Amino acid sequence: TVAIRHLYHSTDEYVGKSVTVAGWVKTVRDSKTFGFIELNDGTFFKSVQVVFEDKLDNFKDIAKLGVGAAIIVTGDLVATPGQKQPFEIKATEIVVEGSCPAEYPLQKKRHSFEFLRQIAHLRPRTNTFAAVFRVRSLASYAIHKFFQERDFVYAHTPIITGSDCEGAGEMFQVTTLPQVGAKLDDQGKVDYKEDFFGKMANLTVSGQLSAETFAMAFRDVYTFGPTFRAEKSNTPRHAAEFWMIEPEIAFADLEDDMRLAEDMLKFVIKYILENAPEEMAFFNQFVEKGVLDKLNHVVSSDFGRVTYTEAIEILENCGKTFEYPVHWGCDLQTEHERFLAEEHFKKPVFVTDYPKEIKSFYMRLNDDNKTVAATDLLVPGVGELIGGSQREERLDVLLERMAELGLKEEDYWWYLDLRRFGGTRHAGFGLGFERLIMYVTGMTNIRDVIPFPRTTGQADF
Ligand code: 4AD
Ligand code: MG
Repeated sequence: TVAIRHLYHSTDEYVGKSVTVAGWVKTVRDSKTFGFIELNDGTFFKSVQVVFEDKLDNFKDIAKLGVGAAIIVTGDLVATPGQKQPFEIKATEIVVEGSCPAEYPLQKKRHSFEFLRQIAHLRPRTNTFAAVFRVRSLASYAIHKFFQERDFVYAHTPIITGSDCEGAGEMFQVTTLPQVGAKLDDQGKVDYKEDFFGKMANLTVSGQLSAETFAMAFRDVYTFGPTFRAEKSNTPRHAAEFWMIEPEIAFADLEDDMRLAEDMLKFVIKYILENAPEEMAFFNQFVEKGVLDKLNHVVSSDFGRVTYTEAIEILENCGKTFEYPVHWGCDLQTEHERFLAEEHFKKPVFVTDYPKEIKSFYMRLNDDNKTVAATDLLVPGVGELIGGSQREERLDVLLERMAELGLKEEDYWWYLDLRRFGGTRHAGFGLGFERLIMYVTGMTNIRDVIPFPRTTGQADF
């Protein structure tokens, strides 16, 4: 069989020849003596029109095919210049591999995203999700391509870990089932504190601390994998399981870090615009009108820069009333982040130098002793897309900060070793992969850009 993508890209090679394609029926229309099938094989966003006539032995069966049936079509490829599609296939044989009865939920009509979430096992077959998940796949490849071309080493950081990188206590604990030897307490209940072979362990919230160990060996590294957060926030931007890209670069400061983030984002967006033109045209028409202009603008202009202190002034003087009023020292809420990106800067903007009280222990203290060398990248429509920082490489300053926060030295002994043995300036960031897909496609709910969303109360499939 030949892929429909290939037929579209090399039509001339096939005109006048017999081809065999295998795919699923999108629609069937028939009159007494002939009919049309829109056939999609998943290799290309567009379908192919198959024409079939009553000279086929199984004409009646084919005319009765349901939407979703799996078939293999052999026929002659005929050019149809001036028509909606550049060619069609005149069938000489159609074999039915799998029929599809009328109770198939994906009939030809618009279904709501809420409905489609309940049939997450079928939704990749719809136009929207076919487009989203191909873009997701391409974005993932583009990220690896970007880093590999720059000689970054891909570090596989662990999923099960004893440390809480963000110190926010938003972790899922790993535990053994009683029947496979969980340690039980006096009451016969699982003793969670000791349950990972005698230790406490969680699902990772970030691969950063492990990535730092690799940066001290390879200089430029990245990790890209699933991360988990037990935050109960039921929002369109938070998932309990999401993928994160985390580069870590040695002999580098916050400025280098932001330049890397900007270069990477532009590279990935360009790659998608070039390699998924059909999907992007679809999003531009049906999901976010103007998404193409937005992205073209992003790749061709500089991101904004503002310090946290300046951002607070902008928010205080903008004349808008927020649900949460701002003051220096407060954490920025989604409404503030969106105002800055959407209404004030109208493009991606790096906010830098946040108060240390609202940021993590590992961020490098600035000379003012009040702020840290951290940055969040805010983008219109999504809010926080990236969180990063220069890391505290000075052992004494780091120890002092950990003491302030009540973190135990012995829990981080290996992390502190990185400062003792040939420590250097270094920096890194975390990019939320699903939020990137939302930004690029214009989809507005994180549940619709990850194949099987894990959000509060959702773990089927
Ligand atoms: O800002 P965060 O918490 O940063 C870190 O985890 C750092 N250790 C990263 C680093 O410097 N290596 O998370 C980074 C990004 C956020 O900007 C956001 O895009 C995404 O991860 N993110 C989430 N995405 C979906 N659902 C959630 N619950 C998310 N929490 C964070
Ligand atoms: Mg953050």
